[in-house]
Amino acid sequence: MASNSTHPHIELTNHPIGDDDFAARCRDQLEADGALILRSFFTREAIERAAAESAELESSAFYSNAKHNVYLTATDPDLPDDHPFNRPVMSNKGLIADDLIAGDSPIREIYEDPQFRSFLGRVLGLDNVYPYPDKLSSIVISVAGDGMELGWHFDTSASSVTMLLQAAEDGGVFEYVPDVRDADAGDMAFGNVDRVLDGDEPVRTLDFSPGDLVLFRGRNALHRVTPVSGSTTRSLVIFAFNERPDASMTEAALETFFGRTA
Ligand SMILES: [Fe+2]
Repeated sequence: MASNSTHPHIELTNHPIGDDDFAARCRDQLEADGALILRSFFTREAIERAAAESAELESSAFYSNAKHNVYLTATDPDLPDDHPFNRPVMSNKGLIADDLIAGDSPIREIYEDPQFRSFLGRVLGLDNVYPYPDKLSSIVISVAGDGMELGWHFDTSASSVTMLLQAAEDGGVFEYVPDVRDADAGDMAFGNVDRVLDGDEPVRTLDFSPGDLVLFRGRNALHRVTPVSGSTTRSLVIFAFNERPDASMTEAALETFFGRTA
């Protein structure tokens, strides 16, 4: 696509997503840093509309309050209480499922944009990216009011693609510790996990604003969102993509995330 082309929701002048060199630079940075922030990727109008839509949907979000370990796996009663499998962290937040988001929402138009998908594929090193086959999981808005947080965890997917719609007045900060483990090598990194949970590892902050596109490699980096404080809801869009068209959530996972399966 020519550099002077326009997009209704994406600032193409600063982020020429159709340009292979630009995508390659983004990919290199994601590889090197484990994170990529494209500042002011989305137009102000798209963000304002999406933030207003999110505020309308907030009361329809499914709120959950969960105790889990950093691996998001079951506890192991045969191991001591202070083993990382058994060390609880808390997450409480609301999720707005895809089927609540309007067909003409800017975030849906972005998600379905073939040029955006192609760009993500090149940055993530995938031939294709696919939506989830279910009606709930592809576009999700995560909302967190006063006191809500996301505890330390590893992601089960390699990369996440997100955009902040609205920041909290205070708190709601994305913190991470890179390279805690090598999941592909089967590394559970119990020692490193203990040190992070004990506060003995330096923690980095990923600093992003509404409208920034944020890609994060969360399978080997421990990360969390600190408790929100104040009356402004923190709201973040998750653009969920799969490598395969048939990858699906289990019914149990859907129940956990959304409180329903359809
Ligand atoms: Fe995560």
